[in-house]
Amino acid sequence: MSTHLVFRLQGKESHRNLKQFEEPKPVIDKYEVLVKVRGISLNYRDIVIASGGYPFPTKDNGIPTSDAAGEVVEVGSSVEGLEVGDHVIGNFDVSNLYGQQKDWLHAHGGPIDGMLRQYITLPGHAVVKIPKHAKLNFTEMASLVCTGTTAWNALYGIIPLKPGQTVLFQVKEKYGPDRVINYKTTPYWAAEAKRITGGRGVDHVFENGGSGTIKQSIDCIVMGGIISVIGFLSDAKQEDMPDVAGLALSKGCIVRGITVGSKQLLEDMVRFVVNRELRPPVDKVFGFSTEEVIAAYDYLQSGAHIGKVCISLD
Ligand SMILES: NC(=O)c1ccc[n+]([C@@H]2O[C@H](COP(=O)([O-])OP(=O)(O)OC[C@H]3O[C@@H](n4cnc5c(N)ncnc54)[C@H](OP(=O)(O)O)[C@@H]3O)[C@@H](O)[C@H]2O)c1
Repeated sequence: MSTHLVFRLQGKESHRNLKQFEEPKPVIDKYEVLVKVRGISLNYRDIVIASGGYPFPTKDNGIPTSDAAGEVVEVGSSVEGLEVGDHVIGNFDVSNLYGQQKDWLHAHGGPIDGMLRQYITLPGHAVVKIPKHAKLNFTEMASLVCTGTTAWNALYGIIPLKPGQTVLFQVKEKYGPDRVINYKTTPYWAAEAKRITGGRGVDHVFENGGSGTIKQSIDCIVMGGIISVIGFLSDAKQEDMPDVAGLALSKGCIVRGITVGSKQLLEDMVRFVVNRELRPPVDKVFGFSTEEVIAAYDYLQSGAHIGKVCISLD
């Protein structure tokens, strides 16, 4: 019997509960492809799931992580448009092909098994092919899945960003923004955002803090702007909870929760990245041994990274 190596999360206290197992290699049905996983990209979600703090359903003893790239090694008889040797990434939520995600039951590395393994079967309809001429290695391809689709969804998922508009990202500063505001040295950064935009405010905010930062996001949004609620890194204390309904009304703004995004958005984003020859920033790449995988999670948890933290299986 053919086998492969798989990591499972044996408990929900810490990523130190990750254990490697040798299991039977998965077998495809006629609508699936077998993918040899070659690169994996971690997300903050993977740390939160491993420590039991994820607010959505997760599977017990599951295989973690959502973002992987690999090579097709077998193709089911009813799959069209894919062949052995193709480079592919899987969509974050296997059932979300277009439009809004329908439930919380089909995302890799949470409610269903994820990518931290040598081989995975994926429905042919839930993978996106990366053209062979793309200047991307497998960890860079994997890094497009969750982060890339989420950002694309925020900017193009409902009302597309227009040239000339201003976007405020709550992220680290390394990758070429026009202006930077350090939220630690400028705790009321909304005033600075308004000053920089000549009092007008910003058109779009990537809300990464959540309830602890959304009041400032609404303070600095233009009338009718969009706040994409993405992260929950900075929760407000119950007594400090902002009145988001009242604040949103006062600005006539859209406050929109983002749940990564559909395969359609992933495909659009991949086309953009490949055609523009962009390369997602990968900070550090770890190996596939138990020690290296735990070290990768440790590094992500430390917050020392700028860019993606990845695992290579090559
Ligand atoms: N909704 C979705 O579809 C979706 C998709 C992807 C990610 N997420 C969520 O988005 C969040 C970020 O994920 P990530 O993978 O990008 O994490 P990450 O790589 O760890 O980056 C988080 C960034 O947020 C900054 N930050 C933390 N607290 C902040 C605050 N109070 N104000 C401004 N900036 C702050 C951090 O800066 P410092 O290190 O300098 O503090 C860091 O640059 C997580 O909550 C994750 O679960 C959601």
